[in-house]
Amino acid sequence: MAEHKEEWGSKLGVILAVAGSAVGLGNFLRFPGQAAQNGGGAFLIPYFCALFLLGIPIGWAEWSMGRYGGKKGLHSAPMILGVIGKGTLARYLGVIGVLIPLGVSTYYMFIETWTFGYFIKYLTGGIGIDPSMSIEMQTKVANDYYDAFTGASADGSLFSGQGLNTFLTWTVVFAINIWFVFRGLSKGIEKFVSFAMPVMAVCALIVLIRVLTLGTPDPAFPDRNVLAGLGYMWNPNFEKLGDFKTWLAAASQIFFSLSVGFGVIINYASYMKKKDDVALSGLTASATNELFEVGFGGMITLTAAVVFLGMAGTQTAVGGGSFKLGFATLPVVFAQMGSFGNIMGALWFLVLWLAAITSSLSMYQPAVAHLKEATGWSHGKSTSTIAAIGTVGAILTLWYSKGGTFLNTMDFWVGTYGIFLLAMAQIIYFAWVFGIDRGWKEIHDGASIRIPSFVKIVMKYIAPAYLLIVFIGFNLQSFKAELANATATTGARVALLTILAIVVYLVGVTWVGARRLRAAGVDLDDTTPATD
Ligand code: ALA
Repeated sequence: MAEHKEEWGSKLGVILAVAGSAVGLGNFLRFPGQAAQNGGGAFLIPYFCALFLLGIPIGWAEWSMGRYGGKKGLHSAPMILGVIGKGTLARYLGVIGVLIPLGVSTYYMFIETWTFGYFIKYLTGGIGIDPSMSIEMQTKVANDYYDAFTGASADGSLFSGQGLNTFLTWTVVFAINIWFVFRGLSKGIEKFVSFAMPVMAVCALIVLIRVLTLGTPDPAFPDRNVLAGLGYMWNPNFEKLGDFKTWLAAASQIFFSLSVGFGVIINYASYMKKKDDVALSGLTASATNELFEVGFGGMITLTAAVVFLGMAGTQTAVGGGSFKLGFATLPVVFAQMGSFGNIMGALWFLVLWLAAITSSLSMYQPAVAHLKEATGWSHGKSTSTIAAIGTVGAILTLWYSKGGTFLNTMDFWVGTYGIFLLAMAQIIYFAWVFGIDRGWKEIHDGASIRIPSFVKIVMKYIAPAYLLIVFIGFNLQSFKAELANATATTGARVALLTILAIVVYLVGVTWVGARRLRAAGVDLDDTTPATD
């Protein structure tokens, strides 16, 4: 099938690759914004419910389905889900497992471009905020820079003036990504994450220590201190727990952040050896993600904002959304740190860039694997084709940048809605069609730990029911409004059409692949009975 058998170089390599995919902008930017808007410390209740009842169990199912597919020589979500779900419907639902990483990559790469652009800017002197100006003026400078760099002022503005700089930065960042994907699994992705993850951890730790030792920098404002900052993020507002939206937000955050239901783990795990452990590996990758999310993401951004901008200033920043928090508010914070400000800024944006690239690499690999498997093309040809598709998607994201309409529509329909659908399909096929007993055996094959048996009940009943309730609630609460949003602006409509175009492409490739693989004698409709 493939030109040579691809596999991970080491057991640690795959764990780091999955952890790298998981730890991303979702941890450092999305999480603090979500927590602050959804009850602070109280958000952790639905968040940890979703982690233990959905994220970790469905993650285990995904790891073991991937490894199972790999044993049959299959690497793409459509083919693997087709085997697990025994048939055509499951195979075509599996298309969502390639749509998500490919669709999310179009805008994720755009944000990754900002992180890299800001990193370079801070290495070479900062973004021009003068700390002797009033905080209002500094905020205006930071916002203007952000608007110009991200093309938020007008559609198409990214291809003029400052936008050209952004476009060139995107080209560099995209080329780095494609280079590592092109190098292949163990020589490209694994090598890069093995270097990037420890560097990211050390840099994030330095930024965290600096933030936690800020004390009360301005005696004129005694309430602007580290404890108040931590309190802002973590003081619980239990009223929010009565709001269905809080539970939706928590489940979405878990999926997005862990890269579960994303189409990545099923692909990455398919390159493991037959007897490689999936139980402890899944747990380790999730635990690493949580360390970065709660430990770093939950402590840095908002704490630093409160220390320098106070509660009211931070509240305004939170209202502006997670991106503004990271790219417009924190630069003002760095400007107050004196001579350390630019170093802290450079470290912060380096952390964001490494977090982003270890995730974006994982978004191209599933699409490359899918094309390669379906057509029998070489790795180079498949990577180039996906790079071309990625370029078109990125140009659309860059073009329709005003107000983030393309980005937000893509993020909702692919990065939130699509994830729910895929997670639901995965756990139902795994527990009910493949069979929970067979699945349980599969998870424990070669495992270094034994998972408590109540997790079996979680996988078979609790997770599907939980997801169905959240999904129905999600539809009742948001579907109409989101559909209206998705047709309200040109950028949003272009995003919907882009999604449609990607789906058509993926269905076509899957159809070609199924015919080719069947002709080659591959058993695509597993007929082994479920043992449950
Ligand atoms: N899991 C990745 C993130 O958190 C996509 O950003």
